[in-house]
Amino acid sequence: MSYYKIHDLENYFKMYKKSVREPRKFWDRIADENFVWYQKWDKVFEVDMQEANFKWFLNAKVNISKNCIDRHLAKRGTKTAIIFEPNDPSEQALHISYNELYERVSKMANVLRDQGIQKGDRVCIYLPMIPELAVAILACARIGAIHSVVFAGFSSTAVSARINDSECKMVITSDGSYRGNKTIDLKVIVDEALEKSPCVEKVLVVKRTNTPVTMKEGRDIWLQPLLDEAMGTSVAEIMDAEDPLFILYTSGSTGKPKGMLHTTAGYMVYTAYTFKNVFNYEENDVFWCTADIGWITGHSYILYGPLLNGATTVIFEGVPSYPDFSRFWEVIQKHQITQFYTAPTAIRALAKESLDYVQKFTLNSLKVIGSVGEPINEEAWHWYNDHVGGKRCPLVDTWWQTETGAIMISPIPFVTPTKPTYASLPLPGIQPVLMDELRNEIEGNQVNGSLCIKFPWPSMARTIWGDHQRYKETYFTAFPGKYFTGDGALRDEVGYYRITGRVDDVVIVSGHNLGTAPIEDAINEHPAVAESAIVGFPHDIKGNALYAFIILKESGEGRDKTNLSKEINEMISNQIGPIAKLDKIQFVSGLPKTRSGKIMRRILRKIAEGDFSNFGDTSTLLNPEIVEEIKEGKL
Ligand code: PRX
Repeated sequence: MSYYKIHDLENYFKMYKKSVREPRKFWDRIADENFVWYQKWDKVFEVDMQEANFKWFLNAKVNISKNCIDRHLAKRGTKTAIIFEPNDPSEQALHISYNELYERVSKMANVLRDQGIQKGDRVCIYLPMIPELAVAILACARIGAIHSVVFAGFSSTAVSARINDSECKMVITSDGSYRGNKTIDLKVIVDEALEKSPCVEKVLVVKRTNTPVTMKEGRDIWLQPLLDEAMGTSVAEIMDAEDPLFILYTSGSTGKPKGMLHTTAGYMVYTAYTFKNVFNYEENDVFWCTADIGWITGHSYILYGPLLNGATTVIFEGVPSYPDFSRFWEVIQKHQITQFYTAPTAIRALAKESLDYVQKFTLNSLKVIGSVGEPINEEAWHWYNDHVGGKRCPLVDTWWQTETGAIMISPIPFVTPTKPTYASLPLPGIQPVLMDELRNEIEGNQVNGSLCIKFPWPSMARTIWGDHQRYKETYFTAFPGKYFTGDGALRDEVGYYRITGRVDDVVIVSGHNLGTAPIEDAINEHPAVAESAIVGFPHDIKGNALYAFIILKESGEGRDKTNLSKEINEMISNQIGPIAKLDKIQFVSGLPKTRSGKIMRRILRKIAEGDFSNFGDTSTLLNPEIVEEIKEGKL
């Protein structure tokens, strides 16, 4: 029996038990059988859940790009590694074989080295969904540089903050990006960002849209001529198992974004293992994850997971609504996709459109369909299951986080019976628990609580870049000795998990994780604003949308509210990005506060949802009368 592949339910339970009883043996076997190592480990793990210190595969030596590319060359050299599907369907799709990927990544790795990038240096990658994005990431991994991919929808302020936090030496970007019928000038955004980021020495620029750009002498270089000159072979750096692989920023409920740090071997082992099992991956499959590589889903399931398994993976540059709402279904038919992995927000948006868009295409190449990023509601689940999966493809509702690195709770296709809206059972190796308010573990089934993980797993983030204390406090102090996810969940009568949503001040909008604090900070910068509070409220398509309660300064009170709202949204767009825009803005004269000055968001959340039934205990409020006023003014 191989631990790498789960065959049936009996095998699942057997493996699950084994992973709990003998975790060292379990992970040792998976790591041993499925990867190439320069040197094996002395010890499988050394962990401390109190101090939040985690080491996996101690002293092993490995390179993940070698595992993604080189080791497949003998058997799969001419097999397609990446299919690039451009934004414009009339532009030809590109098939990049493993041989070609090797050459492209080698050239890029040589360019990076020539430009002075060394092992341990941080490189910010701010690119659209084009092959160069994958190549740049793999090249960083090849030479041991730490990649920090920033989603190419973030504003210059957000890019600059991320660059500065991890002190990136280089930025890799493009002249522009295509998104549906729009072109976005990425280089302009980078130029603006770099005005406040002096640590960046070099900018490599990919030509994609042919938009005219300004190239700063001595700093900015067109990438293609460098690649043309570079050698097509390269030696991969020997990395320690715990050497950093990448930083990826995620929003917290307070303060600046958290640079989650993932390290090499643990991330590699767990990502590959989950890809194989959760998507029932087999040799000739064509896998398509529609996420952006700028998020963890893209890191783990467009790039690393598929390539580690020698799979064919799709990089899609476009959007689901361009040229029309049939784009996803057209691409599935065109490339004979076998596994399709997307977000509930996309499903809800497409389910609103005519069924003809789906029914025009034959989707019978599909074998497994997946969902990620936020809870999938019952209606969306059934639409996806019926009209895309044809009721024959298992729908895997996968729960995980940037911090977990890869999928944690999910059905295994053809193994775990699915149940609408349930992420179902933990993968072998993962030990979820539900906790009550008194920090006790809730035993038994049909219970509700805060979702924690009580035992470490290989791909957990090791720290927050530059701030281990914050890492420890955010994830390991609410429930001492356990990893706290920030999510609430319920466990049904058979032990299936259903994720009910965040229990902290993070709101998931269209599958994007947004912390309320940075948005409030952006609003408060408007000269007319005195104070603000943001909460999420249910939205048909986005899952949640943002509702802002804003107190104006006296000087702002006479202002036209429509204009003011527009200006505030522009500020948010500039500070964070358009994804954080407010759907509703209510101007109020005060906010419900406790005597210690804390805003009672629980009440604001209920008002935003339009649920006035029971505000709970308001006796601790300093200004209970404000609740009535806000209720009356609700939009
Ligand atoms: O609240 C959970 C939600 O997304 C959060 C993690 O967001 P992020 O780090 O951006 O990673 C998203 C992609 C893995 C979680 O804390 N979430 C993710 N998947 C699900 C989910 N909520 C419900 N069901 C899911 N399948």
